[in-house]
Amino acid sequence: MAVPFVKDWDLVQTLGEGAYGEVRLLVNKKTEEAVAVKVVDMAKAKDCIDNVKKEVCICKMLSHPNIVRFFGHRSEGTTQYIFLEYCSGGELFDRIEPDVGMPEKEAHRFFQQLIAGVEYLHSLGIAHRDIKPENILLDDKDNLKISDFGLATMFRHRGKGRLLNRLCGTLPYVAPELMSHSAFHAQPADTWACGIVLTAMLAGELPWDQPSENCQEYLDWLEKKHYLTPWKKIEAIPLSLLSKMLLHNPEDRITIPEIKKHRWFSRSFKSGVKRQSETPVSKISRTDSGLARKNSDDRAQISSSQPEPQPLWEEKEVSVYSDVSVSFSQPACPDQMLLGSQLLGTPGASQNPWQRLVRRMTRFFTTVNLEASCIALRDACIAMGHTWKQSCTNQATVSTMDRRNNKLIFKVHFLEMEERILVDFRLSKGDGLEFKRTFLKLKQKLSDIISNQKVLPLI
Ligand code: ADE
Repeated sequence: MAVPFVKDWDLVQTLGEGAYGEVRLLVNKKTEEAVAVKVVDMAKAKDCIDNVKKEVCICKMLSHPNIVRFFGHRSEGTTQYIFLEYCSGGELFDRIEPDVGMPEKEAHRFFQQLIAGVEYLHSLGIAHRDIKPENILLDDKDNLKISDFGLATMFRHRGKGRLLNRLCGTLPYVAPELMSHSAFHAQPADTWACGIVLTAMLAGELPWDQPSENCQEYLDWLEKKHYLTPWKKIEAIPLSLLSKMLLHNPEDRITIPEIKKHRWFSRSFKSGVKRQSETPVSKISRTDSGLARKNSDDRAQISSSQPEPQPLWEEKEVSVYSDVSVSFSQPACPDQMLLGSQLLGTPGASQNPWQRLVRRMTRFFTTVNLEASCIALRDACIAMGHTWKQSCTNQATVSTMDRRNNKLIFKVHFLEMEERILVDFRLSKGDGLEFKRTFLKLKQKLSDIISNQKVLPLI
């Protein structure tokens, strides 16, 4: 489906999908600049129009190196188009090796940038409310960019704060005070989610399904059983920071200014530390990174996240603004024209084709033709107990349940490229780490027909 308003731009591919709709990649025909466009079908839900207006209004306020840049928005019929900075480094999730995480210095750098972005949001009175690795993107220089403001809200306006009371976000990342159905402060809840992200980066697993007292893993944490996983995989100093970020009582929880003073946060990792915007573009796809080594480890414990936001109770938030001049349903912000050159001025003119390449690990080339590739994957999926539904010759949807009995749905695209078949997997619904595990199992099953040639990163 084409995206209107942008006649000089090619729709190259779908970057992601969610309950809201899709994010697509647009590339300018002449300049080859790339932008992402979030396409929201507002006919899908009644509250969608207000939500999108609120998202756009918040996005317009934002300008920070660690926040995805907003270029503008347009609507046509019931569809809203939100134009965003394209982050070719993909999701932070793709840098987390299941059960392992990533090197501590890499996690340290990403964490510093995450905290810089969240601190900036909070300084504007904005809470993100759905911080998780799927909503954290990376640019061509591996700089972290917080994305998706679909659940963001204002907790302070003109110096006047308010408490929140809506449980939203993703359960494994949600702070315990959100589970208790009473009003809570916005900032400690975002800080908590940053602590869960740091745990995922350092250990490659989420510590619990949800922070409630009927969850044994959470009780173990409260009892400081640090000899258990994931904590036993984490060094003492970052663990001391996590102990402060994941304190049950939000009043006791470490604040962002305090996090910045913590000795793990402020330490330096000398050799080869990437600083913001200094890293050269890596030309090596991570497709066959160390993830492959782990693919048969079924004993690993992994908590599943539920990437779809889970609004568990729906009452309106209690506003404690004295001045209610901000109404998100009628934003004061005027519509922006996004025709051709107007949109063009904004994205980095320095982008070269390499910088537009998406780094993704969930794809491989086969050594057989389209039909044989399709049959082999279908049979492997069926043998693994997954449901296979082919929508056309080069696309299928696979549905299954993960180890925690959560739904996992992903799409598979078969692309003919220079006489080879690229098999590209995209998560539609479910836990990103479980998706990767399933991908790796399928890849192992299909090893006979998988090309050893490295998968070139491609748009
Ligand atoms: N997926 C979702 N949003 C994206 C963006 N802005 N850039 C790249 N991939 C994305």
